[in-house]
Amino acid sequence: MATLFKNIKELIQVRNEPISFVSGKEMKVLPTIKNAFLVVENGLISDFGSMENCPQIDEEIIDVTGKMILPSWCDSHTHIVYAGNREGEFVDRINGLSYEEIANRGGGILNSAKKLQEISEEELYQQSKVRLEEVIQLGTGAVEIKSGYGLTEEAELKMLRVIKRLKDNYLIPIKATFLGAHAVPLEYKENKEGYIQMLIDDVIPKVTKEKLADYIDIFCETGYFSVADTELILSAGKKHGLIPKIHVNQFTAIGGVQAGIKFDALSVDHLEEMRNEDINALKGTQTMPVALPSCSYFLSIPYTPARKMIDAGLPLALATDFNPGSTPSGNMNFVVSTACIKMKMTPEEAINAATINSAYAMGLENKVGSITKGKLANFIITKPINSYGFIPYSFGVNQIEKVFLKGKEIL
Ligand code: NIG
Ligand code: FE
Repeated sequence: MATLFKNIKELIQVRNEPISFVSGKEMKVLPTIKNAFLVVENGLISDFGSMENCPQIDEEIIDVTGKMILPSWCDSHTHIVYAGNREGEFVDRINGLSYEEIANRGGGILNSAKKLQEISEEELYQQSKVRLEEVIQLGTGAVEIKSGYGLTEEAELKMLRVIKRLKDNYLIPIKATFLGAHAVPLEYKENKEGYIQMLIDDVIPKVTKEKLADYIDIFCETGYFSVADTELILSAGKKHGLIPKIHVNQFTAIGGVQAGIKFDALSVDHLEEMRNEDINALKGTQTMPVALPSCSYFLSIPYTPARKMIDAGLPLALATDFNPGSTPSGNMNFVVSTACIKMKMTPEEAINAATINSAYAMGLENKVGSITKGKLANFIITKPINSYGFIPYSFGVNQIEKVFLKGKEIL
């Protein structure tokens, strides 16, 4: 059955030929068709073009006069599966404690891990599905979700099974990442090497045997895991077929970007602290740098230097980092606005970064991220707006009227 969307004021991010990602100056170009049509068949985009060439379709016709259509947001970095929240730490930070001080007192990731270890898989699923449904309503049409709040074999597998269940039960494409090396659990406080070895010997083989993850991640950061730890984990993950996608340069630049590149990471994420050598190392690689501006906003830490990176010819993707500690928000509309307002990205750059580039950062560039024939019909119909620049401009308000996944309207 075919559905025709007609009189689209502007069809945004139209790519006739499939592309993997856009970099440097290309990021300023956002191809669109004004006064357009779009045809969806069997959950896929089957045709689009200018209204002058609109085909005769006798089946379902939806008139979207005054509204725009753009591909759904792609969110390549989230921690949507977690237990409870940490608003107490939020207040502690308002009262002057730093993220690091809170973590050193047993708060932070360890606090979330304790909560997650205590609840059942069913309860974790119930809490997580609410957040997944929320981000779908906010226009996200593809998402990556990490483990990393379990920190024991049992709890990490519990998280990954919940991700798998979400994948089985929802129309949104989901990629799973194993982040066992997110923090050193208390039991291993004096034996970080032992924890890493346990992950390598026991957990990674089980994760891959049950096909529970696509990617391997680690928090490469002063006070968490070193560059040497990162290389050990990435190498073990790769041996088991897990592709690296890592947390680096959030608070300190210690060479994690280079370690990611060495192990052909699909993406290196956070990058609030970028030295010139880190920017240069990324040039000419297939590793996507990913910025998480809601995290910078929430923690009041520097924003990823997008201007410097894009002007150096690099690509850049945007994602939320939705998690209970540093970013309790999965709103990609806010991410796109914040990228424009705080990182000086143009609306074209931000939309490219939040669609095709973010799709690439989770290996889904052939399925989502642009209006291209054969891709999933995952898209947003906007409210009536004058130009697409209004989307980031009207920060805090989502210009979304309807969302579609695989051609189905999500109510
Ligand atoms: O991506 N930086 C590491 N991990 C998460 C935050 C973890 C937490 O505070 O719970 C992040 O920001
Ligand atoms: Fe993260």
